[in-house]
Amino acid sequence: MNNKQFYSTYNYPNLKYIGKTHTNLMKKILSFANISFSDLQGKDILDAGCGTGDKSVFFALKGAKITSIDFSPGQLQKAQENAKENKVKIKALEMDILNLDSKKLGKFDYIFCLGVLHHTEDAKKGFENLCKLLKPNGIIVIALYHKYARLKYRIIRALLRLFVSKDPEKIISFLFSKNFFAKKLNTITKETLYDRYAVPFESYHTLREVKQWFKQNKITEIGHSENVNGFEPFKVFERKTLFFVSGTKPK
Ligand SMILES: C[S@@+](CC[C@H](N)C(=O)[O-])C[C@H]1O[C@@H](n2cnc3c(N)ncnc32)[C@H](O)[C@@H]1O
Repeated sequence: MNNKQFYSTYNYPNLKYIGKTHTNLMKKILSFANISFSDLQGKDILDAGCGTGDKSVFFALKGAKITSIDFSPGQLQKAQENAKENKVKIKALEMDILNLDSKKLGKFDYIFCLGVLHHTEDAKKGFENLCKLLKPNGIIVIALYHKYARLKYRIIRALLRLFVSKDPEKIISFLFSKNFFAKKLNTITKETLYDRYAVPFESYHTLREVKQWFKQNKITEIGHSENVNGFEPFKVFERKTLFFVSGTKPK
């Protein structure tokens, strides 16, 4: 099973709730790029690797024109259902970030690629492809797994693959058969367990590395999440394992 098949079967994040908690999450994400809710009105936005579409729906509810792409048909279908339930329109396209159809997509004011590039086989290439779709003064926001902060989950993933199986289906059966993981379901969703331990492929990155990607693609950094400030190897003790970086394409 590859990532495309995996996400089609095990949808993530499956967030239906577009309410206060979600609004706060979106406020936080946008703050890393100095974007306010009112800025979203009328903007052409690409949600790259939209998953089950909660962010796409949020942007559409704020008056943006949304294109949502994902390479997993199962995820796109959920995103479309999510949009329908919230009575908004999104343009949903099945597409691989590593093989974009730029003619079909056009150019964007804002591009969000959150928790996705580390699931492609080549995160840097994916980033380069997305940067080409930015309008002048356009903004890109990406979120990636941090190399050091993610270490605890990487170790568990490695142990599961070593002692249980390399097959995601078997890992999932194991996770739900053991009390240790089942207990976790009180604090996290089952989708989080799939996404944390069973996704076939993921990669890990540092802020230092991503700053280089920005430079090489002539994207000026706007900001990044505070959890990656300081000496990066010390981030092994960091609770948040995803970090955000935003930048703009100069005119
Ligand atoms: C962890 S989910 C994140 C979903 C969403 N961006 C969010 O913030 O909740 C990762 C998504 O990226 C998609 N994805 C992974 N690799 C991709 C690729 N090469 N092209 C397009 N989508 C991809 C998966 O199908 C999945 O829906």
